[in-house]
Amino acid sequence: MEQGKWIDGKVLAKEIKGELAKEVAVLAEETGERPGLAVILVGNDPASETYVRGKVRDCEEVGIRSQLIRKPDTIEEDELLSEVQRLNEDPAIHGILVQLPLPDQINPDRVISEIRPDKDVDGFHPLNAGRLATGLDSLLPCTPHGILQMLKRSGVSIAGKHAVVVGRSNIVGKPVSLLLQRENATVTMCHSRTEDLAHHTRQADILVAAVGRLHMITRQHVREGAVVIDVGMNRTPEGKLAGDVDFDAVEPIASRITPVPGGVGPMTRAMLLYNTVKAARTFFT
Ligand code: GUN
Repeated sequence: MEQGKWIDGKVLAKEIKGELAKEVAVLAEETGERPGLAVILVGNDPASETYVRGKVRDCEEVGIRSQLIRKPDTIEEDELLSEVQRLNEDPAIHGILVQLPLPDQINPDRVISEIRPDKDVDGFHPLNAGRLATGLDSLLPCTPHGILQMLKRSGVSIAGKHAVVVGRSNIVGKPVSLLLQRENATVTMCHSRTEDLAHHTRQADILVAAVGRLHMITRQHVREGAVVIDVGMNRTPEGKLAGDVDFDAVEPIASRITPVPGGVGPMTRAMLLYNTVKAARTFFT
């Protein structure tokens, strides 16, 4: 086990949180206000409860005010939309996050589209997705932005490199492909219908696994010396958290690799704080 090749998301997230805490303190000094984040949690899915608790705790650490709004899982879509509209108008709230997944009676796309784009700290609103795709400044989705920060802050060069992204979700695969391309990588996108996946992934200088299937990236998918970023958050049969990458098999041949837990997850959380501060700044000035 060669710890030096691990990209430690906890350490990098702490560094970012330190920077944000300073910025929040300066903003508070200059404006007398603090950034405010509202998190809406519908129902009581245990994983969502854990994520939301983490987000609220993170806010406290850097001096962001947070407000947790809980709604029963029987809530109608109209009522949830009204809640979003209320927060859109609330001058003390600069960031709005609706925790996903939502119950079946609610269309998540409608809810996401209702959030004011300048308060959309998840970066999921179609306007922010479109701004990213066209190269305009926007609130970036947290996991893709966290991945980019991980690469940059650990000295991985991106320009000219071949990045292969496995997974094409709106939350990770698509936006991380765009961000890597913006950084001048040559990007290949693979997905569930890709034929001979290993043929493609073996070409990667930087491999991003964002599929949500336990250990589907094995040693045969990885070129010696590749940088491997694991976005997966899966449970093993023993109930442990584990990634999309078979870490024990891949770690010996990777040049750099992110662990799960302690890799991309903490970076995602840090970038939510980053977006909240960024959103607040646009309201303060
Ligand atoms: N559920 C799991 N991850 C996320 C996320 O990043 N944002 C939201 N809103 N819900 C999630």
